[in-house]
Amino acid sequence: MAQPPRDALTFPALDAEHILPYLPPTPAPSSSPPPKPFITLTFATSLDTSLSLSPGVQTALSGPASKAMTHFLRSRHSAILIGSGTAIADDPSLNCRIAGVGGYGSEGLIGQPQPIVVDPSGKWDVHDASKVVRLAREGKGRGVWIITAQEPNARKREVVEDVGGSILLVERRGNGKVGWRNIIDALAAQGITSVMIEGGGHVINELLRPENFGLVDSVIVTIAPVWLGKGGVQVCPDARVDEQGKRVPVGRLEGVKWVPLGEDVVLCGKPKLESISP
Ligand SMILES: NC(=O)c1ccc[n+]([C@@H]2O[C@H](COP(=O)([O-])OP(=O)(O)OC[C@H]3O[C@@H](n4cnc5c(N)ncnc54)[C@H](OP(=O)(O)O)[C@@H]3O)[C@@H](O)[C@H]2O)c1
Repeated sequence: MAQPPRDALTFPALDAEHILPYLPPTPAPSSSPPPKPFITLTFATSLDTSLSLSPGVQTALSGPASKAMTHFLRSRHSAILIGSGTAIADDPSLNCRIAGVGGYGSEGLIGQPQPIVVDPSGKWDVHDASKVVRLAREGKGRGVWIITAQEPNARKREVVEDVGGSILLVERRGNGKVGWRNIIDALAAQGITSVMIEGGGHVINELLRPENFGLVDSVIVTIAPVWLGKGGVQVCPDARVDEQGKRVPVGRLEGVKWVPLGEDVVLCGKPKLESISP
């Protein structure tokens, strides 16, 4: 193994042990892919459930230990996915920097997840200097896939395909949205077996809706000891009512574990399916 670069991260095995039960199972060598990719919903939030100070503002929330955990989680998924709002706000790297993966101590792209941006209306102006494109060119990450309902212009397609990425065209549903079932089916058709969905607010709140929450297999939330104040990008799904019109909880986790990591705490759990049944 080559010497990992200075920005490579490590995540202690003792901490990893707590989180492993919430991660996709390691497939047996000759097993066929699962019918549906394993979906992990993960993000970092403040004490007032904000992901960032305001829309479009990148906000550092988690400490170094939780940051290393995020990269460990990325090394355990075949893909990582964000919405276009996050791609525009953060210009994210969307690669894995755990020591020993491709580009960080190993040859090729072993252990590097497939970066995916869901961008139905083609709002994200990906270009040659976008971090995810630059890292793919440097052999430190894979070429990005964009899931969109809008045929991109020739320049955008060239930027993406030049570094081994792809444009995946999907249809909008009657309500104008690209449904999560469609997105996940499109990824399964490409051989993706596990997806770590990292945000932002719009994407997370959609996935917490009862009709989508059943698609999620695991939830891993880093809670940082800070309040960001009103006006942030909040994790707060639409309210839900029962047949009598009475307010009921939107969803709940079960099999929960709280793992302290530095000054943060990491909440791991699995969706309680009875909590979303009508
Ligand atoms: N703390 C964290 O862990 C964390 C993680 C990620 C992001 N963030 C922060 O979150 C903020 C961005 O959040 P955001 O809510 O503005 O953007 P977002 O959730 O990243 O992206 C929103 C866009 O995703 C698209 N989308 C496509 N299909 C969708 C579907 N089925 N359901 C939901 N969305 C769909 C929509 O595009 P169309 O309008 O084209 O339909 C929507 O405008 C940034 O400030 C970023 O820094 C924080």
